[in-house]
Amino acid sequence: MTETLLPDAAGLARAAALLREGQLVAFPTETVYGLGADATNGAAVAGIYAAKGRPSFNPLIVHVASLAQAARLVEIGPEAERLASAFWPGALTLVLPARADNGIASLASAGLPTLGIRLPAHPVARQLLEATGRPVAAPSANPSGRVSPTTAAHVLSGLSGQISAVLDGGPCPVGVESTILGLTGAPTLLRAGGIPAEAIEACLGAPLAAPPAYDTPSSPGQLASHYAPSGTLRLNAAAPRPGETLLGFGPVDAPLNLSPSGDLTEAAATLFSHLHALDAQGATHIAVSPIPDHGLGRAINDRLRRAAAPRR
Ligand code: TXA
Ligand code: MG
Repeated sequence: MTETLLPDAAGLARAAALLREGQLVAFPTETVYGLGADATNGAAVAGIYAAKGRPSFNPLIVHVASLAQAARLVEIGPEAERLASAFWPGALTLVLPARADNGIASLASAGLPTLGIRLPAHPVARQLLEATGRPVAAPSANPSGRVSPTTAAHVLSGLSGQISAVLDGGPCPVGVESTILGLTGAPTLLRAGGIPAEAIEACLGAPLAAPPAYDTPSSPGQLASHYAPSGTLRLNAAAPRPGETLLGFGPVDAPLNLSPSGDLTEAAATLFSHLHALDAQGATHIAVSPIPDHGLGRAINDRLRRAAAPRR
């Protein structure tokens, strides 16, 4: 049985107690719902991989309540400090050198000498992290390879019965995952996400290195087929062909539209709900309108390309 908890004092206390006991608890962040486990508890972290059916080479993001807590886990250099003060709390994950003896279960970072770390902005996530008092490892709360959840109902439709609880904080405001930036060498965009790359480049005053190709083994987690609904996707579709359901963007006639006004922030926030809805209605062939490839459009196009990639 998976408990649904309200984000009130009692629900937060219960969720924090479950996490400290080594249980799995899904919780809202501003990007997507995360599937949390105490990052210092190897057995609890193993439970995440089991519940998601996730390949064990794919490292997890560790969520913290404060910059001070982050500084106990990773080496924060001048660039990380500048980015953290500009974008934390928020939708930016920094991959940094892990500190020795930081207490994080090695399974959380899949044995890498680095750690992906994020201070989320969602008030429910922040209160939960405060109450738990430990770093919390949390991938998106979906079965591996499926569409990320932006509501508690999405979480339950994929993981009900496999996790102890979900904290229901309503829909996630950003709707796509965090931007992941590698800072162990030249700043590298590892995943486009909720903070536009242009904003990061403006903060650093330099362009970011390109993301590695999705299929190279040196970029864990960048599986080509990911975020996939059951139907097939055809991208940059001017119009649907016979038998296709159009997922629109902008002023097109479509049963589902990411943003009729062509607003990228709205499109990011509605992307995964629309993919879940297409799954629920059994759409087998989905055509998607073109999405401009700047700002949040880069994250949206990245998720759509992966959803359209050949399935393994
Ligand atoms: O918005 C988000 O980032 C959400 C919420 C819950 O915070 N989390 C999320 O986690 O999207 P997940 O596990 O679905 O994606 C994490 C990505 C993976 O592709 C993984 O390979 C990469 O982060 N990652 C984590 N730690 C890393 C590391 N040390 N080095 C390189 N990549 C890392
Ligand atoms: Mg994910």
